[in-house]
This record gives sequence, C-alpha cells and structure tokens, in this order.
Amino acid sequence: MVTHSVQSQLYVSLGAYLQDLKESGVDGLSADSTTRSIPEPAPQQPAAALPNTRQKTEQLEPDLAEKHETLEQIRKDLGECQRCKLGATRKNIVFGVGNPKARLVFVGEGPGADEDEKGEPFVGDAGRMLNRIITAMGLQREEVYICNVVKCRPPQNRNPEKDEIAACSPFLLRQLNSIKPEVIVALGTFAAQAVLGTKEPISKLRGRFHDFHGIPLMPTYHPSYLLRTGGNSDSFWAVWDDMSQVLRLLKLPVPDKSRKK
Ligand code: URA
Repeated sequence: MVTHSVQSQLYVSLGAYLQDLKESGVDGLSADSTTRSIPEPAPQQPAAALPNTRQKTEQLEPDLAEKHETLEQIRKDLGECQRCKLGATRKNIVFGVGNPKARLVFVGEGPGADEDEKGEPFVGDAGRMLNRIITAMGLQREEVYICNVVKCRPPQNRNPEKDEIAACSPFLLRQLNSIKPEVIVALGTFAAQAVLGTKEPISKLRGRFHDFHGIPLMPTYHPSYLLRTGGNSDSFWAVWDDMSQVLRLLKLPVPDKSRKK
C-alpha cells in the first residue's frame, strides 16, 4: 500500500520531471495519466542471473526510492490506454520486457511495426542488432529490461509528438523507479533527447554518463542507425565504447573486441 505522503512525493517528482520536459519543449499532459486503472495484468519475464552488486537504492532520489510498485501494478494502471492519440491506431501496447530487477535498462524511441504486432519492444531488425549488442556485452536479453519512451507505435513510424511523450513519460518513470536499475542506456537521438530533456545531438550526448533521477544514463546510437552504417563502422565501435563504459560501471568484465582493419 502506498502512503499518501509517498504518493504526493512521487507526484512532486513527476511534476518536476514533466516541468523538465516542458522546458525542453513538451507542453502538454493528458488528464489523469497516473491514476486511471483498467485491470489487465501483463506477463512478466522471470528474474535472471545478472549478478547484483547494487547497494540498494541510494542512487535514486529519496522520493522515488520510497515508492514501491511492481511492473504488474504499473501495467495494470496503464490499462487499455487511450491517454493520447496513438491509442487509436496501435495494435498492441508495448509495455516493456525483461528482468524486473534488471541492473541495466535499455530505453528506445517507440515501437515499430514488428513491435506493434507482437507487443514486445525491439523484436524486428533493430531488435536483432540490439540483441547482438547485448550478447557482445556478455549478457542475455532476459537479464536486462527493454522499453521505449512511448508504448504505442506512431503511425508510419514518425517521431512521437510532445503530447504523446508527456502522456507516456509518467509510466516510463514509474517503470524505472520500480526496477531501480544501476544504469540506463538511451538508444538513439530521440530517446536520449526525450529522457534528458535536451536538444543536443546524440553525437555530443553519447560517450559519457548523464544523470537521470540519480541513475547514470548512457546515450548511444540507435541499433537501426548501426544497421545502416554497418558492423565495422565508426558508429558501431562508438557504441561498443559506450557499452564498455556501462560494463565497467556495473563492474562486469568487458569482453575483448578489436576492430577489423
Ligand atoms: N525502435 C525503437 O526505438 N524501439 C523499438 O521497440 C523498436 C525499434
């Protein structure tokens, strides 16, 4: 049971977060986006074996760290969401997949056609590239958690709009607060800019950790971009540098990879 004071604190934190979004150009929030409840439990993946050296939740802001809700509760609260116009055209809500206690969370932009069809993030070509990255890191897809800034496919794969981000952001924040990962990776320009509330290009944002509510966040190039540039491109190796930093922060071994000449 969430106490009134914890709930108020979360709203204060969400308010500050949404204010950040607003200052970065987001100027709308749909009504009652955090309270609507239409029962529909979502399946969750089992916890997996990524070693957990996390020191509880000291990394999170105290107001976020106090609130304990499960991903199932958040999914239930999301319901058959119609908080923004994407609800009218999507086939399936793409909530997120993976370990509810993941040390590492990947956040993408929004579902494409394959994800909309299956209700799971990163299952198309970009997903196969993300899986390659995860495997190259010495991890398994089931050990991490994968989600998106928006949970419904934008028509024709256009970028999500401000009101859509604003309607979905509270749920992303609640998912991250539930998982309490040690590191977040933002995949691509859109996700990095939306989550960090900045207009800086990904080429400037990547390569260093940023702060997201007390959690280190590493922006990196989107897997779709790597599909275009190829597996031995500068951008591919830039992603590998970023992921090596992530592994070092998690105190996990960095597999030895060397660039083909
Ligand atoms: N691209 C994304 O950003 N997210 C997905 O889930 C799939 C492709």
